[in-house]
Amino acid sequence: MTTIPVLELKSVSKNFVGVSALKDVSLRVNEGEVLCLLGDNGAGKSTLIKVLSGVHQPTTGDLFVNGERHSFAGPHEALQVGIATVHQTGGTVPLMSVGRNFFLGEEPTKGRGIFRHFDRKLAEQVALEELRSLGITNVNDGSALVGGMSGGERQALSIARAMYFGAKVLILDEPTAALGVKEASKVLHLVARAQMRGVAVVFVTHNVHHALAVGDHFAVLIRGTMADEWSKGERTREQVLDLMAGGEAMGDLEDELREIRTSGSLVSRKVGEKYVK
Ligand SMILES: Nc1ncnc2c1ncn2[C@@H]1O[C@H](COP(=O)(O)OP(=O)(O)O)[C@@H](O)[C@H]1O
Ligand SMILES: [Mg+2]
Repeated sequence: MTTIPVLELKSVSKNFVGVSALKDVSLRVNEGEVLCLLGDNGAGKSTLIKVLSGVHQPTTGDLFVNGERHSFAGPHEALQVGIATVHQTGGTVPLMSVGRNFFLGEEPTKGRGIFRHFDRKLAEQVALEELRSLGITNVNDGSALVGGMSGGERQALSIARAMYFGAKVLILDEPTAALGVKEASKVLHLVARAQMRGVAVVFVTHNVHHALAVGDHFAVLIRGTMADEWSKGERTREQVLDLMAGGEAMGDLEDELREIRTSGSLVSRKVGEKYVK
């Protein structure tokens, strides 16, 4: 039996005026799988995410959710079918509390008619419970402002929120890029937990080590084209690092640097001195 991917792109291209950001890209992600999308700056990763999350419509090609063709008019339509995107900053509002942020746009209320109001206590309680269920135990005050939380905790809050509201696909755009080692590992734990709950995760990063730690499948974008694709265990760390560093281009660079180092007149020159032969 072949599994139907939760989310699939077939031959998607996206052109902006004068720029071809994605060229004939196909990819799929299944329930409970982590697809890592790797690529250098400008490779087209964010554009691809925006196509998956309904921000951009493909110029050509198709998008399928659970085997059905979809065309999203905007991110709300993607969200309606369970595709949630967490952007690098976590998409949280610093001057609002943990509870408020968790329910932003979906506020629980109590009372009727003109007495209807935001149920702050419930919101704060649920937010903390959900964070705890994902292993985030050092946030203990649901009324605390998100501005005082670390980058990793903000990511956690956004991820917990997406899962609480029923995300089937969780798209994370460079969630570990701005984080230190410890914080990044917390986010990687969250990815694993989401996966254990059957969520399909699209994890965008240019950190090979983070990708290899959590990924089941890997795809590399180079200048808008899918340059390579493989399943866990099919490439060594060195092969992936080499591919990401631009392989041949780095080889050329090493040759050039070697030439500079072996040229005596350059080596003896001090910083700030004019080069005189
Ligand atoms: N809205 C846009 N209009 C025009 N060009 C864009 C737009 N968004 C992205 N691009 C271009 O598409 C290419 C890929 O960008 P992007 O998807 O942001 O790459 P990445 O996220 O991998 O760094 C870049 O050349 C970028 O300048
Ligand atoms: Mg980007």
